[in-house]
Amino acid sequence: MTRTEPETRERVSVPPNAFYVPSPVILLSTVDEDGGVDVSAMSAVGVVCLEPAVIAVGIKPRRRTYRNIRRSGTFVVNLPLEDELHAVDYTGTRKYRHEPDKVAAAGLETALLPETGLPYVTSCPVAMACELVGNLGRTELGLDGPPSHQVVLGRITECTVERQWLADDELRLEDMPVLLYLNRVYAARGRNLGTQRFTDDPEVMAEKLRYYRSLTLDRKGPEWISRPSTDSSTDS
Ligand SMILES: Cc1cc2nc3c(=O)[nH]c(=O)nc-3n(C[C@H](O)[C@H](O)[C@H](O)COP(=O)(O)O)c2cc1C
Repeated sequence: MTRTEPETRERVSVPPNAFYVPSPVILLSTVDEDGGVDVSAMSAVGVVCLEPAVIAVGIKPRRRTYRNIRRSGTFVVNLPLEDELHAVDYTGTRKYRHEPDKVAAAGLETALLPETGLPYVTSCPVAMACELVGNLGRTELGLDGPPSHQVVLGRITECTVERQWLADDELRLEDMPVLLYLNRVYAARGRNLGTQRFTDDPEVMAEKLRYYRSLTLDRKGPEWISRPSTDSSTDS
């Protein structure tokens, strides 16, 4: 669908809906007190900090997934690909408490990450073990009543990737057919449109790209990362 001419773009007010913001679809794997592994699709997900690496996930408090996270203080963020749409949808529409074998029934397998020993989904090319570092709810958000979702903040403590997605010193995310979500609709990622510009200086640009994408650089970053910016298009 193409955009209309600016003069014909009338605006109307509609009720607020956070799902108008596109997001990834991930699989969260968690473990209960008996060692049972649950895997559930989540889309209220976002990056909130680079150093330390922190991810936020909005989870309804009645979910087994949420209970497991509060109990264990851990979870794993797995990135499913397009060809796992059925499994994703399955885990996201079946509750562990009603269907304890939902992971196998979805056709998914789990194994343990080498360092943290947390369960990850073996078919997902990227798995990030997280330690619970924050949990925002009614009090923290200053709300009059309970929110639909608790905001769980997880610091990434271990990350594994399938070797086929590695390039020299980076992850080939630009080729990865990850799943997107827009208000109940699943979408493919589409074509790449370009690379972040950062600056017009090609040397600084190369340095910044390397900083953000490298697998081996110190994430605390070079001096410019903590310096107040003079260029409106620098750090993000
Ligand atoms: C694509 C998709 C995205 C979802 N995103 C979320 C989410 O961000 N937060 C949430 O609480 N539930 C989300 N759900 C719903 C849970 O995955 C679902 O309720 C699941 O059955 C929970 O299982 P559990 O009780 O075993 O944890 C999503 C479901 C789907 C299909």
